[in-house]
Amino acid sequence: MNISLVAGARPNFIKIAPIIHAIKIKNEKLKIKSGQDKWSFIKYRLVHTGQHYDEKMSETFFRELNIPEPDVNLGCGGGTQAEQTAAIMMAFEKELMANPADLVIVVGDVNSTLACSIVAKKLNTKVAHVEAGIRSGDLTMPEEINRIVTDSITDYFFTTTTWANQNLLKSGIDEKRIFLVGNVMIDTLMANQHRFYPPPFWEIFNLQPGQYFVLTLHRPANVDDAQKLKSMIHEIVTNIDGLPVIFPMHPRTFKVYSELGISYPNLYTVEPLGYLSFNYLVKHAKAVITDSGGITEETTVMGIPCITLRDTTERPETVEIGTNELVGSNPKAIKAALEILKRGEWKKGKIPELWDGKTAERIVNVLIKLRDYSNYYV
Ligand code: UD1
Ligand code: UDP
Repeated sequence: MNISLVAGARPNFIKIAPIIHAIKIKNEKLKIKSGQDKWSFIKYRLVHTGQHYDEKMSETFFRELNIPEPDVNLGCGGGTQAEQTAAIMMAFEKELMANPADLVIVVGDVNSTLACSIVAKKLNTKVAHVEAGIRSGDLTMPEEINRIVTDSITDYFFTTTTWANQNLLKSGIDEKRIFLVGNVMIDTLMANQHRFYPPPFWEIFNLQPGQYFVLTLHRPANVDDAQKLKSMIHEIVTNIDGLPVIFPMHPRTFKVYSELGISYPNLYTVEPLGYLSFNYLVKHAKAVITDSGGITEETTVMGIPCITLRDTTERPETVEIGTNELVGSNPKAIKAALEILKRGEWKKGKIPELWDGKTAERIVNVLIKLRDYSNYYV
């Protein structure tokens, strides 16, 4: 079975790592069972679209999470929504025509996910979508459009929760094509927790466990508007009794922030962090304030309070089961959430079902079954 595995942006790398490791383990097992040496049971070609390209947004994750070098990098970073999507489509079409696959696997909801699934279907190649079916209902976000379009042409849906299954069923997808497998992002978290280490500034900033906040912001609605970004930061740093706020800054955010000319004694801005030290920081934080999707899942599993500065979420389980609260994107709402935290009244939360570190193994088992029983996905 030949798979083309696509990744382009930071959260994608974290999602593909366990899939690659599970393929390797499965191939080893099958090899031993069959006694054949050189037969690779699942062959994959790793395609990096180049959507994220800075060392700290890409290469770091390959190194830290033992992801092999991509077989190809399409070099399609930057540009507007249409420019980026079109560039990835044109480059991936050439790539897939030169290296045909039985199945293209896409993960998450970034432009690379959308672009490559469209190209695959137009070349009559089956598509599997990992993290299918999640919906925020907010069509002003490019990710929601990416999710809807990708799922409208996907053949095999790997889902994180029953909510996602329900969304897919409601849109008329045959339940036989939906596989509730859990969360690959949590596979990576569980496999690497023992390797987390403090970032180099831990001692320089004199950080103490439970006595600092972590902040990440990168959504266009929050960071492209300079005044809004300024006011969000102000509301956070001035309402936490002087505790340090560590702000690893996404390049999109840095562009706007660097023009703001603000500084606060308790605000520490740093470059994007590698996975292992970022999650060390999260694991020991008093709380995380974010507009990320993936971080709401990781904080839920680590039991760390998470304040989400968005009006909607495509991951309702992090709010209903986990430690996440949707505080909204109005900066004035931040203070009230911080008050709850200060009073020690933040909810404790639980871990959603199947977020157990074994999701990629379940995905690979499904792939093997599809191969065996569907005559190569017919
Ligand atoms: C993208 C995803 C978003 C995801 C986020 C994860 C889409 C529509 N958005 O948003 O869903 O949550 O990644 O981080 O796919 N840039 C650099 N260096 C890099 C990467 C980006 O300088 O390595 C700058 C470029 O100017 C680029 C801008 O950031 O134009 C935005 O990058 P892009 O990938 O288009 O969107 P993100 O905001 O990163
Ligand atoms: N992350 C990281 N370093 C950082 C910020 C985030 O390693 O400085 C990781 C984080 O642990 C999570 C993923 O990046 O696994 C989330 O990516 P991001 O917030 O960029 O995207 P989203 O999940 O919102 O699409």
